[in-house]
Amino acid sequence: MNVTVVSGDLAGMETPLLVVPVFEGDAVDPAAAALDRALGGLIASVRARGDLAGKAGDALVLYPPAGSKAGRVLLVGLGKADGLTAEKLRRAGGTAAKQAAKLRSSSAVFALPASSIEAGEAARAVAEGAVLGAWTFTELKAAPEDKPAPVELADLRLVVAGDGERAVAEEGARVGNVVGRAANLARKLGNLPGNVATPSHLASVAEEIGGRFGMTVTVLGPAEMEAEGMGALLAVARGSDEEPRFIVLEHRGGAEGEKPLVLVGKGLTFDAGGISIKPAAGMEEMKFDMCGGAAVLGAMEAIGELGVKANVVAIVPSSENLLGGRAMKPGDIFRAASGKTIEVVNTDAEGRLILADALHYAKRFDPAAVVDAATLTGACVVALGHQASAVMGNDDALVEELRGAGDRSGERCWPLPMYDEYREQIRSDYADIKNSGGRPAGAISAGWFLREFVDYPWAHLDVAGTAYGDGKLAYLTKGSTGAPTRLFVEWVLSRAG
Ligand code: BES
Ligand code: MN
Ligand code: ZN
Repeated sequence: MNVTVVSGDLAGMETPLLVVPVFEGDAVDPAAAALDRALGGLIASVRARGDLAGKAGDALVLYPPAGSKAGRVLLVGLGKADGLTAEKLRRAGGTAAKQAAKLRSSSAVFALPASSIEAGEAARAVAEGAVLGAWTFTELKAAPEDKPAPVELADLRLVVAGDGERAVAEEGARVGNVVGRAANLARKLGNLPGNVATPSHLASVAEEIGGRFGMTVTVLGPAEMEAEGMGALLAVARGSDEEPRFIVLEHRGGAEGEKPLVLVGKGLTFDAGGISIKPAAGMEEMKFDMCGGAAVLGAMEAIGELGVKANVVAIVPSSENLLGGRAMKPGDIFRAASGKTIEVVNTDAEGRLILADALHYAKRFDPAAVVDAATLTGACVVALGHQASAVMGNDDALVEELRGAGDRSGERCWPLPMYDEYREQIRSDYADIKNSGGRPAGAISAGWFLREFVDYPWAHLDVAGTAYGDGKLAYLTKGSTGAPTRLFVEWVLSRAG
């Protein structure tokens, strides 16, 4: 999407679709008030009739009188003026893009409202929401024959109040555009089914990103994993004919010798549960079990495109978890790359196995901090539903940073406690640890398992409830959400200064 910034009088904007945000209550945006005078009081009369309260999520298309420069005016509610957030603007951007598609308009003008939110942040949020909202997943589906080819929003002009705000808004719009596209890459990878988005496919996407931005790409196959002693990852891959891949991308945007930030993502391309097989109903959703890895790849695309001045390493261990004559079995014990032995009491707790070898591998980079993201536990969904990812770690300041990045990016995360006592749940009678701590606090005992493999500042995001969903949010669609791509980028940007 081409996103530009202009300033000037709204009534003078020649466009098929003019998007005008409105607040709940009496607050009237001065620019919108001037536009309304030019429209002969159309907006005021609609509001006086009570047809648009201005609540967040409200939207109404108006047809202005002949002679107006705008073909249509889309009013989008932002809620109370004093409660405006970047997320509400992001959603308004999404609403604008979806309405544009519905109205078959490839271009639109969006009037950024005067508010407490700084122009750069507002432009970023609207651009991000619009890029996310315009995105569709149609790769594997024929277009309906009885309908004309879809039109998507391709050209978005953001209007700021004065010329003084243009430069910051342009920069914000650029970042929002890049981050939106990065999340869309993650969404696409997430939605692609297990037979398409295989471990080798994820590796080829990493190679493509690395090639585009001059990153170092390393891809390990089974023989190299064997040489690294990655017995935990290899145990998961045993039941599958599809070869596993261990994917590493290095962005060197910071000073030489500066410790890198490391992003690790679970790239489990299909999780049948293994011998501890999952129930059939809904099992198709387990194609989303690589969404953590997809978000890491999406974030690296944004980091490359933004030329972030920090060293960032991405690690995506990738495998399927299937059943077969050679598949790992409950009771089997494997040695991880760290040397620790793991008793597999449940083959469906495979994510932590592949992450164990990835977290150990991260040590060689002498990281400043490592953050992993994984659709790790159903227990996380029980705890937090679909409104927030869980965050936990061995460094409270890092957890706090991630919470902040989550709030700002609209991909929220909420901390779970890592009390020492939870560690008891993964004690094994036969090996150093076991891979399941049972049902109580399942998200936390999974976190403790991962913690066994780290000796650096580390945090873990359980995105089982947030990586995919029903698509009810204004800028999303059913399926992969791209989370936590935006959170990752926000965190890296906050660290890069
Ligand atoms: N990929 C699943 C977790 C999951 C469940 C993600 C639901 C999204 C929605 C993971 O590999 C898994 O199966 N975890 C088990 C762990 C248990 C066996 C200790 C779970 O949560 O049931
Ligand atoms: Mn599983
Ligand atoms: Zn899984």
